[in-house]
Amino acid sequence: FSALVLFLVYALVYLCLDSNKNIRGSGDPEINKKSCTFRPLSAKEIDEENVLLDSIAWPNIPSVPPPVSLNDTSDAARSNFVILPRPGGGSWLVGDQLEVMIKMFDFKGRPKNHGGDFLLTRLHNRTLEAGVAGQVVDHLNGTYSAVFLLPWEGKSQITLVNPSEAIPFLQKFAGEKPNGVDFYSTFQSGLFTETTMCSVCLPPTQQPQCNYTDLSTGELWFCYKPQNLSCDARINHFSIYQKPLNSKEEILFKK
Ligand SMILES: *[C@@H]1O[C@H](CO)[C@@H](O)[C@H](O)[C@H]1NC(C)=O
Ligand SMILES: *[C@@H]1O[C@H](CO)[C@@H](O)[C@H](O)[C@H]1NC(C)=O
Ligand SMILES: *[C@@H]1O[C@H](CO)[C@@H](O)[C@H](O)[C@H]1NC(C)=O
Ligand SMILES: *[C@@H]1O[C@H](CO)[C@@H](O)[C@H](O)[C@H]1NC(C)=O
Ligand SMILES: *[C@@H]1O[C@H](CO)[C@@H](O)[C@H](O)[C@H]1NC(C)=O
Repeated sequence: FSALVLFLVYALVYLCLDSNKNIRGSGDPEINKKSCTFRPLSAKEIDEENVLLDSIAWPNIPSVPPPVSLNDTSDAARSNFVILPRPGGGSWLVGDQLEVMIKMFDFKGRPKNHGGDFLLTRLHNRTLEAGVAGQVVDHLNGTYSAVFLLPWEGKSQITLVNPSEAIPFLQKFAGEKPNGVDFYSTFQSGLFTETTMCSVCLPPTQQPQCNYTDLSTGELWFCYKPQNLSCDARINHFSIYQKPLNSKEEILFKK
């Protein structure tokens, strides 16, 4: 575990829309909200929803008014971590739990004093095609712990996905545009293909819809029906992320 590597990846995936594709449908969340009437949730589903919401809860982050200077944000290159000594001493063994203490600094080298950075930690080995995620705990004071199980010998990696300063913009975006990601399917018959938009609920238009609701689970799923192909001709499923930011905010998401 000597070769621990700290990576900086401000990873927002901007997938480009292939302009040749014939994509139909509206991604306007306001329209979707009005046209979608879901059945009320059962008590069990409300519990599950709360568990999911708790699992993605994020600490409050002091909001930085734009224009945000990168200088004040978390910098992976200046941040560091130490592997805490093995409890009981000796060298690390497969099967141990390894704990890492991560300390974040900003671009000017000042220690961060609040939490909220989005960090991912993992051990991986390409040769073995093996990987395991570390569990990150935010101490809310600029330090984080990550705990790994050591299932094999290998390297570990800590990725700063988004600095805490970027999170309020993501939250704002998620609130304004719940459809931050749009789903599509391609339909194919022979050489003929068409692509249409899909979702758990689509606004009604002139275009009929294909109903792919799962009869065993009740999960809703619809696509606009292709003009010249049948609903059975659906061959794939993909998503396109909408670009959430204006140019002033974009600096926070640079790689
Ligand atoms: C960021 O820090 C650099 C180096 O200290 C300085 O030259 C630059 O003006 C700072 N930028 C802002 C926007 O504060
Ligand atoms: C932050 O909190 C952790 C956990 O309470 C503590 O171990 C650590 O010393 C604190 N770090 C600073 C810089 O206050
Ligand atoms: C991956 O595992 C193999 C087999 O245990 C080992 O020889 C190699 O050094 C490991 N590679 C990395 C990058 O840890
Ligand atoms: C979609 O199919 C399911 C299962 O057959 C059915 O219960 C549901 O009413 C259909 N929804 C629409 C909007 O046609
Ligand atoms: C469907 O077929 C008609 C008639 O051949 C054609 O005019 C139209 O462009 C086709 N629609 C699509 C989306 O390919």
